[in-house]
Amino acid sequence: MATTKKIIRSAHTRPGEKVRVLIPRDRIQRRILEIGKQIRADFPAEPLLLIGVLKGAVFFLSDLARGITGEVSLDFIAVSSYGKNTKTSGQVKLTKDLDASIEGRTVIVVEDILDTGMTLQYLLRVLAQRKPKAMRVAVLLDKPDRRVAAVQADYVGFTIPNEFVVGFGLDYAERYRNLQGVGVLTLKAHDKTDKSCE
Ligand code: IMP
Ligand code: MG
Repeated sequence: MATTKKIIRSAHTRPGEKVRVLIPRDRIQRRILEIGKQIRADFPAEPLLLIGVLKGAVFFLSDLARGITGEVSLDFIAVSSYGKNTKTSGQVKLTKDLDASIEGRTVIVVEDILDTGMTLQYLLRVLAQRKPKAMRVAVLLDKPDRRVAAVQADYVGFTIPNEFVVGFGLDYAERYRNLQGVGVLTLKAHDKTDKSCE
């Protein structure tokens, strides 16, 4: 993927942290509209239930919902991984359940990023037991190099390299979700040569 060299130096970044823009906001929004049209083309006459995975998917879901014509409703689910570091432990826990039954519904699970796939694998197993009529997965970002679980998304915004990204809902320690676009986060310890972008 072609990247821009733009560095975000705004009030978003803390000393020692640097964010390089990977996907600017306008590209993201164009792509989300395309996905919205594709989803409606795949399910031309069906009421759709978008299930957002909190919190990262909130921004993607809100644009995606507005990009799909016809009947759309929303629900939210939250999960957390055991263990705090960037290496997944592979164990996932449901921390907030859906408000309503999905039995017989056509469901689109909306996730911010597909990384190892452990979260999605767990969610799909839990949700499939509830007997939806159909279930699809939409992710804004896909990091296929990191995949551990055998899952894939039906709708992918952008396939990205194996780098830690923030913005457009994605966080680092709960920060950066409000960045307009998606950027690669680097910490000073990993990049001591460039002090100009702190
Ligand atoms: P998985 O279970 O490894 O696929 O991880 C999915 C979750 O990990 C996502 O919903 C994100 O919350 C988080 N995650 C994975 N990669 C990144 C990243 O590059 N930046 C921020 N969060 C990430
Ligand atoms: Mg997260």
